Amino acid sequence: MSRITLSRYLIEQTRSNNTPADLRFLIEVVARACKEISYAVSKGALGGVLGSMETENIQGEVQKKLDVLSNDILLEANEWGGHLAGMASEEMDNAYQIPGKYPKGAYLLVFDPLDGSSNIDVNVSVGTIFSVLRCPDRNGEEGDLGEEAFLQPGTEQVAAGYAIYGPQTMLMLTLGNGVKGFTLDRELGSFVMTHDNIQVPAQTKEFAINMSNQRHWEAPVTRYVDELLAGKSGPLEKDYNMRWVAAMVADVHRILTRGGMFMYPRDSREPEKPGKLRLMYEANPMSFIIEQAGGAATNGYQRILDIQPTSLHQRVAVFLGSKEEVERVTGYHQA
Ligand code: F6P
Ligand code: MN
Repeated sequence: MSRITLSRYLIEQTRSNNTPADLRFLIEVVARACKEISYAVSKGALGGVLGSMETENIQGEVQKKLDVLSNDILLEANEWGGHLAGMASEEMDNAYQIPGKYPKGAYLLVFDPLDGSSNIDVNVSVGTIFSVLRCPDRNGEEGDLGEEAFLQPGTEQVAAGYAIYGPQTMLMLTLGNGVKGFTLDRELGSFVMTHDNIQVPAQTKEFAINMSNQRHWEAPVTRYVDELLAGKSGPLEKDYNMRWVAAMVADVHRILTRGGMFMYPRDSREPEKPGKLRLMYEANPMSFIIEQAGGAATNGYQRILDIQPTSLHQRVAVFLGSKEEVERVTGYHQA
């Protein structure tokens, strides 16, 4: 049987699913950048890339050397090809302008260049998350692209994906018609389709949450997690297992592979911030992927993909994964 590389899959999508050629090119370029990041991550201490910078990002988080390197790799790979009108990254304060010497295109690329980067120094999985939007019509307006162009609800995404740098490097992708998984064949240098038609089971016996924040949670989350912990003798009548990698890509990847429930709720530590995870760079692309695989994603009150963003670095509470569990905890927020 011939192997289906990412390139071949994208070309077939162009024919059968009307995927525009410049979107195909965009995904190819992102995938190439992810290969480069994967290589840098895998070198570890040998590449001199471990450890922190002396800088913080806009969220006040210490930047790792690999955060900055991954961000630069994605910017450089994507700025010249003529497929983008602009980019935005978790690691940059403002929208990135395509340099004037390069042509501009129809799309916006939004990314978390290295998710879970606190895992790097301990040799645990990290990843790159990305989301593609159409650039709104600027009515001939020249000049810098403002933040407003990016503030579109997740339903407007035309593609989303992530690369996970773990025991294998994989790229998971949705173009809005299901989710495909590709594994990097290091000898070939190509992503090869290994997971077709990915489906998240509607039920699960596994959940993921940072339990150390328990005392800060709101009542619906406490109620739900208490029920999970009560196991067979509780109202859910089954024993649950818990996993927490502390890299969203790795936790979501596990859920895509075998089901589960991922939660990062808002809590009372910083009441003005609705959660920790970022809507544009993390929650929207992951929610798009999870929904495309038959799962669900809410912030406890509404579908994440329906949220109208008000700022680039906005945070959001996330309940995502197996549909029946997401519906249950979302129901507790309405009670
Ligand atoms: O990007 C933020 C992030 O690293 C996610 O990848 C991950 O799910 C979460 O933070 C982990 O948070 P905590 O350190 O509170 O467990
Ligand atoms: Mn992240």
